[in-house]
Amino acid sequence: MIDNFNRSINYLRISVTDRCNLRCKYCMPQEGIKLLDHSQIITFDQIREFAQAAIICGINKIRLTGGEPLVRKDIVKLVKMISSLNGVTDLSMTTNGTLLSKFSKDLKDAGLMRVNVSLDTIDPSEYRDITRGGEISEVIEGIKSAIESNLTPVKINCVVKESRQEANAISVAKLGEKLGCIVRFIPQMNLETGHFGIVDGGTGGNCKLCNRIRLTSNGRIHPCLFSDSYIEISKYGNSIEGYIKAIKETIVIKPSKGKNNHTDKFYNIGG
Ligand code: 5AD
Ligand code: SF4
Repeated sequence: MIDNFNRSINYLRISVTDRCNLRCKYCMPQEGIKLLDHSQIITFDQIREFAQAAIICGINKIRLTGGEPLVRKDIVKLVKMISSLNGVTDLSMTTNGTLLSKFSKDLKDAGLMRVNVSLDTIDPSEYRDITRGGEISEVIEGIKSAIESNLTPVKINCVVKESRQEANAISVAKLGEKLGCIVRFIPQMNLETGHFGIVDGGTGGNCKLCNRIRLTSNGRIHPCLFSDSYIEISKYGNSIEGYIKAIKETIVIKPSKGKNNHTDKFYNIGG
């Protein structure tokens, strides 16, 4: 579907959980987060029907994100449910990679095509610091397992303070080259103040080219990461027909450019 600013909306990002096994400093507050109650989290059947509705509205790219998508119970089953729908030409996942070595093969077999793995440094103690306790060797193993399982091209998402010229970014770029991964540099963003920039090596953050809508794990459809507006998934009922109406309404209210978002955090809307 074409929006009011002549952008073709073909990309859906689904945040399947607000939970994460890490606590990255720029994503989660120090004191931890108030987790959604399980009853508020959308079910697999809702997600499948929503994806079906989205495809009917012109979506052909779907990305699963979080929180950390691999901590959602039976995530492989969900991947299978989505990959079985006709019309998805690109099915991917954004993950922190820590659990990936356990899941790569099953994800591939279930129809996932590729993964983006978040990694901001190659230094183990700095990684532990940024993620408040993460173990970098798990991520490296995860990336290798994804490559072995053909979840390719594997991309590495590297959050940078200023640019790809800073020391951590340079080291991640080198690692990417060694492993054969595409590295993208994401400027550290702030939802509340509306501070965002264009992803170096991607299209994210470029409002003129934005082709996305997002579904959060509590069932809200967002037209823009940097906007408070959303439509409840069930506004017109929990059915494919209802979801199509809700999606169309979301696309109609998609702003020409992002401003800020006081409603959401990265861990619930998924970056
Ligand atoms: N700025 C930029 N990227 C962020 N992410 C999480 N928080 C931020 C932020 N404040 C990224 C993660 C991951 C993706 C899910 O979102 O690093 O790559
Ligand atoms: Fe978890 Fe990703 Fe947030 Fe880090 S950035 S705490 S890995 S959701």
